[in-house]
Amino acid sequence: MKIIHHIQELKAEMSAARAAGKSIGLVPTMGALHEGHASLVRRSVAENDVTVVSIFLNPTQFNDPRDLERYPRTLDADCALLEACKAQIAFAPSVAEVYPEPDTRHFSYPPTDSVMEGAMRPGHFNGVCQIVSKLFSFVEPDRAYFGEKDFQQIAVIRRMVADLGFQLQIVPCPVVREDSGLALSSRNSLLSPEERAIAPQIYAALKASCAFARSHSVQLTREYVEARVNAVPGLRVEYYSIVDAATLADVNDWSDAPEVVGCITVYCGSKPIRLIDHIHY
Ligand code: PAF
Repeated sequence: MKIIHHIQELKAEMSAARAAGKSIGLVPTMGALHEGHASLVRRSVAENDVTVVSIFLNPTQFNDPRDLERYPRTLDADCALLEACKAQIAFAPSVAEVYPEPDTRHFSYPPTDSVMEGAMRPGHFNGVCQIVSKLFSFVEPDRAYFGEKDFQQIAVIRRMVADLGFQLQIVPCPVVREDSGLALSSRNSLLSPEERAIAPQIYAALKASCAFARSHSVQLTREYVEARVNAVPGLRVEYYSIVDAATLADVNDWSDAPEVVGCITVYCGSKPIRLIDHIHY
């Protein structure tokens, strides 16, 4: 596997691959890779001739500097995992390489980027669109792989791809969970053993709400999930939104959208660590 730090070198590799008729898969990451990322990389390797995995902790998508500061950084272990998954290229640029000048572009795709995480983390999706659009321009992939764990992020990126006319396929990949049900996340490594023990209660509440929802309204189901998670000492719901899976607009009735999804954000522990998850109804 080649580790590339500079954009010009990456572009040269990509041009050579395209000239040789090879297909290119891109897996954008912020590092601190785990089995969830590995599943995206393996899928890209199976579906493309060349897989590029970007490892870049993108500062413009962090609205809370403490969150950026404590985000895990594990480049050597990340590269070892990518080797094992048979990725061809790891792209690990510096912040100065990616942002030689401050990125002043503004992206706006309401309601996908203005509700839920967009409302709680102002500027977050603008930063995501800044970096993902740059990566798409550097790599020009045929396919780009994103984990469905960040359900809202995929909806925003789809809008950006349509808006800017990128010629590529977005490939959403299923959430990978521990046996306990906890969705894999780079932030899980920040949880203490006690916090790790309670965090699976989030998905347990979401799963239980599917049966509850069959005989209750949207409003009561929302309240059920909030009450059940908040009843666990150490967990505190920031929001639980039940939305149209395509537009992310709130639904008031189960028949308001062909596909309905519940998206939750929970503070876990005293630091606290912010965990997100979702469930399809
Ligand atoms: O999902 C992530 O890890 C990040 O938001 C992404 C897509 C790599 C952009 O920095």
